[in-house]
Order: sequence, then structure tokens, then C-alpha cells
Amino acid sequence: MNSIWLESKKKIESSGKLEEDTSADVCIIGGGIVGITTAYYLIKSGYKVVVLEKNEIANGVTGHTTAKITSQHGLIYSYLSEKYGINFAKKYFEANEDGIKNIKDIIDENGVACDFEETESYIYTNNESDINKIDKEMDALKYINIDAEKTNKTDLPFNVLSTIKFKNQAKFNPFKYVSGLVKYILNNKGRIYTNTLCMDVKKENDEYVVYANNNKVYAKYVVLASQYPFLKIPGFYFAKMYQESSYVIAIKTENDLPKGMYINVEQPTLSFRTANFDGKNILLIGGAGHKTGKKVTYEETYKILEDKAKELYKDSRVIARWSIRDAVTLDKIAYIGEYSNLLPNLYVATGFNKWGMTTSNIAANIITDKIKSDGSVYGEIFKSTRFKPIENKDEMKNMIVDSTKSLVVERIKKKELEIKDIKENSGGIIEIDGEKVGVYKNEEGKNYLIKPVCTHLGCMLEWNDADKTWDCPCHGSRFDKFGKNILGPAIKDLEIYSIDK
Ligand code: FES
Repeated sequence: MNSIWLESKKKIESSGKLEEDTSADVCIIGGGIVGITTAYYLIKSGYKVVVLEKNEIANGVTGHTTAKITSQHGLIYSYLSEKYGINFAKKYFEANEDGIKNIKDIIDENGVACDFEETESYIYTNNESDINKIDKEMDALKYINIDAEKTNKTDLPFNVLSTIKFKNQAKFNPFKYVSGLVKYILNNKGRIYTNTLCMDVKKENDEYVVYANNNKVYAKYVVLASQYPFLKIPGFYFAKMYQESSYVIAIKTENDLPKGMYINVEQPTLSFRTANFDGKNILLIGGAGHKTGKKVTYEETYKILEDKAKELYKDSRVIARWSIRDAVTLDKIAYIGEYSNLLPNLYVATGFNKWGMTTSNIAANIITDKIKSDGSVYGEIFKSTRFKPIENKDEMKNMIVDSTKSLVVERIKKKELEIKDIKENSGGIIEIDGEKVGVYKNEEGKNYLIKPVCTHLGCMLEWNDADKTWDCPCHGSRFDKFGKNILGPAIKDLEIYSIDK
């Protein structure tokens, strides 16, 4: 089984596919939690809204997250305090606490049945050498005056050396939550077009034209809420972010499960939370992350989580496994606001650094306030057009090295693999007449050949053997084993070579 959220209800009702030209005050591109929440707030404020989604609603990151609603984002407060000061860190905390409260308010106001449950959130370590990181984070939290507790008591089935607890955090079923918002939007004359691929956004006089499915949407305001913006210039977001892949398994066990939500400090990252599935309490274990586009196997991903599950609960049975991609910014803060100073009324929300549930609400509020010209309390914290010195120089360097390797080195490097070396239900890159060719061999031994060059900016793709996909190391676009684009920023499918090549 794939994501348990997507199993809970097959499909959310929409306005169908866009099949004619139309207009609205605001056109939102992306039907995940960010786009849908923004549409919800704008409709409440009296705007005419159209949402365009290239697949089905909430089928991307929203349908594959672990869905923790929390202001505890790893060791973020010591980092923010050190780099940008105490006031900045405090505002970041307040924005997230408001996000939690707003989500709860939406659920209460609209009677959304989405398994929302308040609980505690913990960051822990079992590594002696990481205890000082927990101590440093706790010092920052005390300084900011955040109500957090350092302890070594948890309800995990193993001892921890040190942990920080945040009270009044929450978890929910993101698919059911978005379904509730969609119901409100459709009942209030909002339109959500699915299976509608946006190819371009152009400014014409004082409005925008969004080109989608051979039709046009005219709107004064456009919001790019499609996880990773597909527009390349002038925003240049592809030069400021990369994507991280991580993996989730859902397990059943007869043992008691922890009530809190947990994440560790050390590598590999491990995250725990329970969820309700078919009336049964199950455990989600997430982690084993890596930069998208790295060549990986099942052993390096799902198996790490499955081994952990067996170690903790001997009777555990995996009932679902899935993977997720997140856009990560170099300074660890999401980009929310104007897409570019050169294009007024075009907004963006991206780079949620794996904490998209709470940040989705912050993003929706900031963008709604900007469209209403109300001024936004938290706009400066997440300012999308910011020019800050890049504090995270190592990640910047990695990004440049990976892109250069993929754009230049991999394209000229001789491939040693031959078609006979590729195992069934696996893939790899071979060379035919000096040309690189990507091969996926199915269970019956039939070969599917593609040009392994990303349709975004031309980086060489890598085969991901855990998910059976072609992934791009530069900005994280993904293509299924037959070459169909499944994740941006690329929007076009791969070139398919003749089966006989
Ligand atoms: Fe940018 Fe592939 S995602 S080149």
C-alpha cells in the first residue's frame, strides 16, 4: 500500500479538468495544503478564486507527509538565534504557534473530521556527542522564553539520553483536513480544476495570463503553491533550494504505542507518530533521508526503517510504505511572499524544509494578507525576495558541486554498465553509440529506454532503485520508470527512445 492518507478516501471531489478560458481575482497554482488553505482564506475574504492542480488534490507532498503540526522544527531555535538574533527566532516561534491555532480554528469552525489530536512533540538524542546540541537548543528556548521542558522521560519503547518536549502540538490526517477545506471552497463558488497542467504565466497589461491545458486563466493575482516553483526566471528559486527525499513506513503491532511525536538529532533521522487507520492505532516511522537524485537502493532507505520497526516491536507488520520530497532552502527558512520584485501581484510559497503542515497555514495567511494589502505580521521573517548572506556555506557548496557534476561530469563520463547488467525491475544508465540511454527493465525482462536528461535544466538523472524512478540531483525533479514527469520543477516528460535502440 502507498500512503495511508491517500487510502483513507480515494479522491477529493473537484471542479473537473479546465476545458475553457476563464477568469478570477486570484489564480492559485497547486492543489496541495498550501494552495487549498490560501484559497480558503481568500474566499472567506470575498475574492473569486480558481485553483489549478496538475494531478489530483492533495496527492503530492500533502498526501505523503507524516503530518505533524508543530513549532518544534528540529534544532531550529539555537540556529535562528545564533544567525539572526533572538527576536527573529521568537517571531518564527510565534508564527508557528499561530499556525497551529489557526489550523485548529479552521477544523472547529467547519467541523472537519480529520483525526486532529493535540499531543506533545519531542526532539531527542541517544548519542553522547549530540547531548550538547540539545543543551544549546534548550538554552536558546529559555532565552526566547518558550515553554519547553528538557527531560529524559518519554513513552518511546527505548531509553533516550536527552530530549526537549513541546506541549500543545498536534497531528492530523492531512487528506481529510484538505477535503474539509475543499468542501468549503466549492460550496462558496470557488473552483478547483484538477488534471490541469500549467505551462506558463505571462503578464499582460495589469493582469496575468496562466496557460494551462491549452486554455487561459486571466487573474489579477497569481500564487505559485506547487511545492517547487516551475517558473525559472526572474525568481531563480532553483538556485536557492534543493530537494530532500525521505521515507515512511506504517506498521501494525499488538504492543502499546507512544502517544507523543518524536524526531531524533542524529543520523539517520528517525521520526515517530501514531495515526488512526481503519479504526486501528498504527505507528508511522519516517526518515532515512537523502538529497533527491542520489542513487539509492531499498537497503539504504525503507530497510533501515523496517529493521528499526522489528528491533522495537518483534511482531510488527509493515502495512504501507511511501516516500516524500521536500524543498529545502539554504538558510532553513521558507520563501513566502512576492515571487520577484519585478513581478508585482505574483506570489510564491515554497521551501518548507520538511515542516510544511504548520508552515502551510503561515504561508496562506501571509499571502492572503498581502493580496488584501493588510500588511503581514510575519511577512519579514519568511520574505521570499530576501538577500541574506548564505549562512549555510557547506550546503551551498554541495549544491554547486552536485549541479556541476550532473550537468558536466556525468554527461561525458563513460558508462560501464551494459544492458545485460541491468536486473529485472531495476534500471540504470548505459551507453549506445556514445550516447547515454536510461533503461528500465520490467519483471518480464522488457526494456524501456529514455533519454536520461532532466527536462528542467538538463542535468543527468540518476536511477532510484527504492522507488523505481528517475531522479534529478540538481533540483529534485522526478520521472516515473517510463519517463513521465511526476515532480517538478520540471513539467515535461522525458524523451522516450525507441524500444529497439
Ligand atoms: Fe533542475 Fe533537473 S530539476 S535540472
